[in-house]
Amino acid sequence: MSVARRCLLGIFCWLTAAGAAAQEENLLSQVVDVERAAINYMLHCQGCHLPHGAGAGTVPDLRSTMGKFLQVPGGREFLVQVPGSANAALADGALADLLNWLLVTTSGDQLAAGWNPYTAGEVGRLRSSPLLKVTEIRASLIARMALR
Ligand code: HEC
Repeated sequence: MSVARRCLLGIFCWLTAAGAAAQEENLLSQVVDVERAAINYMLHCQGCHLPHGAGAGTVPDLRSTMGKFLQVPGGREFLVQVPGSANAALADGALADLLNWLLVTTSGDQLAAGWNPYTAGEVGRLRSSPLLKVTEIRASLIARMALR
C-alpha cells in the first residue's frame, strides 16, 4: 500500500510514524551523548553542512547518502577520513559519537539492522591516515553505491 493510501487511513499513518520514531529512538541509544553530539555538529559542521545535514553547493547533502557509504567497501573508512571529520578539533570519542548521531539522524533508514556504531579506537586509527584524493575516492564510492 502506498504511503498516501496508508495516510488516508489515518490510524495506519499514525502507527507508521510511531514506528519510525521508536526505531530512531532505538538507534539513538547507540549514541553515548546525544546532546554533546548535536552541539558539536552545530559548532564544527553546520557552518558548511547546514541544519539537518542538508548541504549546499559543493557540500554534500548527508541525508541522501551518508548511511549508504556504510554499504560499500571503503565507505566506512571514508566517513571518518574525509577532511571535515578527520580534521575536526574533536577528541576521537566525541567524533565517533558525532558520526554515529549523524548517521542515525540524517540517514537512519539507510542503516542495516545491527550496524556497528563507530568507536573511539576505530576513529582514532582511521583519522591518522588522511585521504589524499578525496574527490576521486568519493566519486568511486558513489559509483559503487549506484551499482548496488
Ligand atoms: C569547510 C566546510 C566543511 C566543514 C566545516 C565540514 N565539512 Fe563535511 N564535507 C565538506 C565537503 C565539501 C564534503 C565533500 C567531500 C570533500 O570534498 O571533502 C564533505 C563531506 C563530508 C562527509 C562525507 C559525505 C559525503 O557525501 O561525501 C561527512 C561524513 C562529513 N563531511 C562530515 C563532517 C563532519 C562530521 C563535520 C564536522 C565535524 C564536517 N563534515 C565539517 C565540507 C565541510
